[in-house]
Amino acid sequence: MSRQSPIGIFDSGIGGLTVAHAIKQALPQESLVYFGDTAHLPYGDKSEAAIQAYSVRIANVLIERGCKVIVIACNSASSAAYELLKEYVRHQAHVIDVIDPMVRHVSSQFGGRKVGLIGTKRTIQSGIYTAKMERADPSIQLLPLATPLLVPMIEEGYFNNQISHDVISQYLGDPLFGAIDALILGCTHYPLIRDEINEFFRGRVQILDSTAVVAATLKTYLESAQLLSDAMPTYEFLVSDYTESFEASTRVFFHEPARLQRYPLW
Ligand code: DGL
Repeated sequence: MSRQSPIGIFDSGIGGLTVAHAIKQALPQESLVYFGDTAHLPYGDKSEAAIQAYSVRIANVLIERGCKVIVIACNSASSAAYELLKEYVRHQAHVIDVIDPMVRHVSSQFGGRKVGLIGTKRTIQSGIYTAKMERADPSIQLLPLATPLLVPMIEEGYFNNQISHDVISQYLGDPLFGAIDALILGCTHYPLIRDEINEFFRGRVQILDSTAVVAATLKTYLESAQLLSDAMPTYEFLVSDYTESFEASTRVFFHEPARLQRYPLW
């Protein structure tokens, strides 16, 4: 592993591209290897054991490619496999999840306030945000809601239209969110519908997504470990199954021609 080694990033599909994009903005000289596990999408409906098995296989691929850091750019995989991956990967790469940076951010800003949380069934049922927030600042009242239709909707390209408007209104109209000060987007797909969520709350609620805080956490780590790259970056995209939506999304986030390769996990 050296300063010029790439950063490995993975998610079930296009959601983690929101994190990859933020990393590219914050750290423009870092090379990235992105793995989208499109064959197993959505992770949010899978068991913890299944997500752990996918995550270990993906970590192997990223380690083979010499990644100095592995960013779990997925809340469902962070909730199911972060502890396991740290144990598994050990000194071969540093592992960063998307939940801890968000919990640190919220606990530094929203003490004593009500904060909503939306995410997949896997993330919400794991109770991990509630447990970590409770430890970080018990004065924050966290109100979690599973919103399982959002990932398939986004993967199918349904946003900024009537269908997405109806689905979002149905979920966010839940009385649970009547008096919240902020809403955590606890899924890396959701920044793609951030504007629609903001519109629903008419700017009354602060919308928090983890992309920038995760990129900042990565930057701090690379600086402290003296692993910042100073080379020309390269971008590589691997998918466990080829999908048109994935290719279209890489083009939106990474304007330069991206190398997209099919890499079946099994
Ligand atoms: N983007 C992911 C997350 O943050 C995965 C969603 C899914 O595949 O269900 O949870």
